Amino acid sequence: MKPIQAGLLGIGVVGAGTFQVLARNQEEIQRRAGRGIVITMVADLNVERARSLVGPDVAVVSDARAVIANPDIDIVIELIGGYGIAKTLVLEAIAAGKHVVTANKALLAVHGTEIFAAASAKGVMVAFEAAVAGGIPIIKALREGLTANRIQWIAGIINGTTNFILSEMRDKGLDFGVVLKEAQRLGYAEADPTFDIEGVDAAHKATIMSAIAFGIPVQFNKAYVEGITKLVASDIRYAEQLGYRIKLLGIVKRRPDGIELRVHPCLVPAKRLIANVEGAMNAVMVQGDAVGTTLYYGKGAGAEPTASAVIADLVDVTRLHTADAAQRVPHLAFQPNTFDKAMHSLPVLPMGEVVTSYYLRLRVADEAGVLARVTGILADAGISIGAVLQREAEDVAGQGAEGSSAVPQTDLIILTHDCAEARMDGAIARMQELTTVLQPIIRIRKEELA
Ligand code: HSE
Repeated sequence: MKPIQAGLLGIGVVGAGTFQVLARNQEEIQRRAGRGIVITMVADLNVERARSLVGPDVAVVSDARAVIANPDIDIVIELIGGYGIAKTLVLEAIAAGKHVVTANKALLAVHGTEIFAAASAKGVMVAFEAAVAGGIPIIKALREGLTANRIQWIAGIINGTTNFILSEMRDKGLDFGVVLKEAQRLGYAEADPTFDIEGVDAAHKATIMSAIAFGIPVQFNKAYVEGITKLVASDIRYAEQLGYRIKLLGIVKRRPDGIELRVHPCLVPAKRLIANVEGAMNAVMVQGDAVGTTLYYGKGAGAEPTASAVIADLVDVTRLHTADAAQRVPHLAFQPNTFDKAMHSLPVLPMGEVVTSYYLRLRVADEAGVLARVTGILADAGISIGAVLQREAEDVAGQGAEGSSAVPQTDLIILTHDCAEARMDGAIARMQELTTVLQPIIRIRKEELA
């Protein structure tokens, strides 16, 4: 049988990696797919560079629409990224009857409903393994391997840039800004790292996983998103002293009354495997009612790890493109006609209704009655305390110096048991009003992941 032909839109790091892996492993890929898979056409604005990457046998054009219009091409691989022109081209490819393979998490998290509906109406596949956690086959695992389960929660380190920064902050005791600069110098963080460090990239991926896990549409606009920019080294150190590590987690959780969908820094017990995922690596924990806890670990970015996921999708599409569309695995794991009912029973909950435990740090005047007043406010709010730590404030100039008349300052670190976020917001507002609380209170959520 003749090889199936694919056209690539945008040849950057991942596109080049896809070429390399396809060429190197073509024989085995062919035996798995049942026929060869070749990229015969590439569109990129930098035609010269693209040519130098793909060699003379591949047509290189600057106009992506020439790829979409090519009748010999069955699969369009979109590696442009973002929600701008990529969205237009993906919808045009679908309208032209092409299957689409994409690594574009932002596009699917924000416009997935429109894109999957268009693909279903046209009877084509949109495959996106590379969109979540790079080389880790987490979409395959959630959509197929765990299909027997009622998924209860997922917690993932799904952004390598921020995990690298947090690992460095912990190892070297440095604050966020210093490590970010170093990460940029080493190429671990982009020149504009906003989407990574503000948690947006992780929230795109968490949104996609929430849809596949719970049978709801993608709803990025309802995700709670908080990045790592406000973290300081002392909180990482205090957390360590209490037996925890701080990770940026994407969390999706099923509750009887709805779904929690959130990304934020989180204390995780140091003894959990996921707490020991270091550097730019990714890991995703999935809790299913039948299987229990499972953990998936690997590289979440990079040329060949991401190419591994792109090519897995190419093989899937090659195997299935002649099959009846109704027999294929649904894009988001559940049949789309069940989404409306699920939406009513499983709304994405506002952050005020999220229930979790907390790490609080209060910079206070070190004088009689302060701890009692603070714990009194927590008690009034019905918030139970799990542990308290008091540490001398190390960053106060002249603290403790002989003859100093300044009020001594101390850090109070409190771990609480579970409570609703709105209740904690109220308690923090009251504690903040105490004149003996000298700085904005630090609040970091905590998950036991048991
Ligand atoms: N920028 C992402 C990360 C990889 O740092 O993990 C692509 O989503």
